Parts: sequence; C-alpha cells; structure tokens
Amino acid sequence: MGAFIEAIDLHKTYRVGKIDVPALRGVSFGVQKGEFVTVVGPSGSGKSTLFYLLGGLTRADSGRVIMDGDDFATLSDAQRTRMRKRKIGFVFQKFNLLPTLDARSNIAIAQEISGNGDRDPAFFLRICDLLGLTKRLNHRPSELSGGEQQRVALARALVNKPAVVLADEPTGNLDTENSNAVLKMLRQSNQELGQTVLMITHNPEAARFGDRIIHMRDGHVVQPEEDPQWAPH
Ligand SMILES: Nc1ncnc2c1ncn2[C@@H]1O[C@H](COP(=O)(O)OP(=O)(O)OP(=O)(O)O)[C@@H](O)[C@H]1O
Ligand SMILES: [Mg+2]
Repeated sequence: MGAFIEAIDLHKTYRVGKIDVPALRGVSFGVQKGEFVTVVGPSGSGKSTLFYLLGGLTRADSGRVIMDGDDFATLSDAQRTRMRKRKIGFVFQKFNLLPTLDARSNIAIAQEISGNGDRDPAFFLRICDLLGLTKRLNHRPSELSGGEQQRVALARALVNKPAVVLADEPTGNLDTENSNAVLKMLRQSNQELGQTVLMITHNPEAARFGDRIIHMRDGHVVQPEEDPQWAPH
C-alpha cells in the first residue's frame, strides 16, 4: 500500500506581472498514516506553497497529491472541498481567525462546516482545557494575545478529530511556553487519534518534536547534509 499522503513531483510557479517565481520545482515524498512529519527550510523555500497544495487549497501546475487513496487532481472542486472539510485540520501561518466571532465560535465553526455530524461537546471542552483557553472563550481575536490566537487556531484544527493535521508555523511567533503547549497538543492528538501530522517550522527544536524531518531548499526536498542549518559543523 502507498503512503497516506503522497506528493508526486509537485511543481508550482507563481506569476507576478511578467515574472515567473518558481516555488516548487519537483517535490516528492510520502507520509505514512499516523506519522508526525516536520518540514524545515529557509524562508522562501516553498514550505507554505507545499502546505496549500497538500491541503487542496490550490492546484499544482503539475504533479499530484494523493491523500488516503484519493488523487486531488481527479476530484471535482466540490469533492475536494468536502474532503478538505472532513479529513484535514488546518493551522495557518497567520491564524486566519474570524475577527467578529469569539474564540468559542471560531473553534465551533470547524465542527459546523465539517458535516461530520460528530459534535462532541466533551472533546471540545477538553481541547480548550488542554490548550488553556477555557477562560478566554468569550474573547474575540483582537482581545487575545498572539499565543492565545494561535492556540484557538489549533483548537479549531483539532476539534473535528481530522485524519490529517496540516500546520504551517504553528509556533512561529510564540514564546517557549506557548510553543511547548502547541507542540505537546499536536503530539498528544497525533498519538491518541492516530492522526497524520505535517508541521512546517523554522525552529530546529520544534522540528525534532516529530518522527522525521523533511528538508526543503529552493523548491526542492534535499538531504539533511545539504541543509546548512543542519549540516554537522
Ligand atoms: N502568492 C504569491 N505570489 C507570488 N509569489 C509567491 C506567492 N506566494 C509565495 N511566493 C513566492 O514563492 C516562493 C515560495 O514561497 P513560500 O511562501 O512557499 O515559502 P516559505 O518556505 O513558506 O517561506 P516562509 O518561511 O517565509 O514562510 C517565494 O519565492 C515567494 O516569494
Ligand atoms: Mg511560509
């Protein structure tokens, strides 16, 4: 059997005016079911672009993404959207919380739009408790600290018990304490629910939290020894 998530020779170039900006130049790898993989690489190496493709949020110029046996390219937009809502929890680099809703609604909205029909109130409360959000549920994003907003975004991603969690720099702007809370929650959710997790990070310590590290550079996956940040000195 193939991997649970397969990226096959992904290419993506952005066009800015008349200039082509290549972001991914042939990226391939597989992630096994239940694996917690981290992706590291310098700014601009294509990590967020990869995140959007793996999540079915944008289409590749060429190459394929296969998740749990479904090839995104062969799905209609409606099917792809359904699959995304049912199967994937997203944590975005910039939280993407809805400014007019309080924390409780920002988290609950994931349950409402998933169509999973499995709104587990006890799980909701447990996630909020584990992330230290119980006393902040009536606050809007503008009334929350950056760390709290990121924890709300993580609660939203996990509350549906998705099979796959995709997180883009979930500890990016957080202090050590908040980072640890986020990483521990991701790991716990991964272990308890057998979730497949792919987490992008700049931080080597955060990267080591996973089972395996994928190194990116200039739109390619490279070997660790080709990554200067990681090469032995
Ligand atoms: N919407 C866009 N339009 C044009 N170019 C883009 C767009 N998004 C990304 N790029 C370019 O594509 C390349 C890869 O960007 P990407 O955001 O995937 O990098 P990244 O590894 O996530 O960087 P960072 O660590 O800073 O978040 C960069 O050269 C970037 O300038
Ligand atoms: Mg990025």
